[in-house]
Amino acid sequence: MSVYGTEATVAAEVSIGTAEAQALDDAVATAGDAPSILNTQPWHWRQHGHVLDLALDPARTLAVADPDRRLATVSCGAALHHALVSLAAAGWHTTVIRAPGTGSSDHLATVRVDGRIPIEPESIARLRAVGRRYTDRRPVAGVHLDADKLRPIVAAAASQGSSLLLLRPRQAFGLARAADDAHRTETDGPAWQAELQRWAGGVRPGDTGLPGAVLPPAAAPATVVRRDFGHRGDMLVGEANDRSAAYAILYGDEDQPLDWIRAGEALSAAWLTATEIEVAVLPLSATIEVPASREAVRELLDGAGHPFLVLRFTALDPTAADGPHTPRLSTGQTVERAATDAPTPPSDLPEEDLVHENLDCGDLPELHIPSINEELVHQGECGRVHLPTGDTCTLHRHHDGSCQFVMLSGGQPGR
Ligand SMILES: Cc1cc2nc3c(=O)[nH]c(=O)nc-3n(C[C@H](O)[C@H](O)[C@H](O)COP(=O)(O)O)c2cc1C
Repeated sequence: MSVYGTEATVAAEVSIGTAEAQALDDAVATAGDAPSILNTQPWHWRQHGHVLDLALDPARTLAVADPDRRLATVSCGAALHHALVSLAAAGWHTTVIRAPGTGSSDHLATVRVDGRIPIEPESIARLRAVGRRYTDRRPVAGVHLDADKLRPIVAAAASQGSSLLLLRPRQAFGLARAADDAHRTETDGPAWQAELQRWAGGVRPGDTGLPGAVLPPAAAPATVVRRDFGHRGDMLVGEANDRSAAYAILYGDEDQPLDWIRAGEALSAAWLTATEIEVAVLPLSATIEVPASREAVRELLDGAGHPFLVLRFTALDPTAADGPHTPRLSTGQTVERAATDAPTPPSDLPEEDLVHENLDCGDLPELHIPSINEELVHQGECGRVHLPTGDTCTLHRHHDGSCQFVMLSGGQPGR
């Protein structure tokens, strides 16, 4: 079975207009700018007809730091929100099914573009924020952060179904203790360090991970200790500490993949809002990665829910230049496109055989199409059945030209 599960795999191709195709391309490209744990970019898209399927790419997950794939799923949720921001800014209405239950736990969401909407100025502003957002790990230079500025950020997270708890100073000390413990576990653990070596430091091949240029040269003094990447980075930083930082916990009611997807969407919404109002965000995930520290952070929530990420907020210094940005995979490496034009049907097929060409199983997830041999489709073959004879096309999926029908062994139509 593919990472997209059964129904998505058999969804028929549907022709779409040029503007819609462009919007879907742009959505995938915009999603590529989303933040992700250690810049793993663990998302994979499949575009077919009006639909974008989002899946987690197991090859870009962290077996030691994130065995449950909580943080990878949060990252994919952020990519999903980025894609939706792009589609809204292009004036497309979307229907989203999260955790669509297609039989693959890696299939996280299905986005269907289903009509035009007016383009709102806020949508354009949000898309602009995507281009300006980045992770700034430099110590803060003491610019005062007005607490009122955090309200729209909290509201943005809430609009996506997750919550942000802003920590009072006493709670921040509790967080500092949890971060300290997590830091010790990770720096003393050979497996943790080996995994970090694979993803952080130096010159990065393949446009994933964190190059030395975006890492600070040494841990700066801070109330809540930051991640030790196992490398001394090359980033230029000044002398400062984070006394003017505010800390928050992103959390939700339950601790399931659906909650992690929504947490990622909330992270993206909160971060884009923060960018618009000149607030810098630094995610701190070590306390979530180490189970004992995650439990300590959960206790800070006092029964309100389950923690997904810790965030540091600081005021952007309007006079300072941007810090270094992190590289990205090319769009082509994260998307697979099914042919968008319906293939030319063989002329000898009766009309009823062609009905499936116009169907999209995203509408009818339970649909089993009689003129498609699903078993063959899952094996990467065309699988179209000529109903009157039962002959079946065994060419590869999305092959060019007409089907070539053959009788399968035993003469059983559709096996
Ligand atoms: C779930 C998650 C966890 C993260 N944890 C950390 C962290 O502990 N420390 C850190 O410096 N950055 C952290 N980041 C930021 C990523 O490293 C950053 O998003 C990625 O490198 C891409 O860079 P950009 O945000 O500048 O585009 C995290 C991001 C996400 C989405």
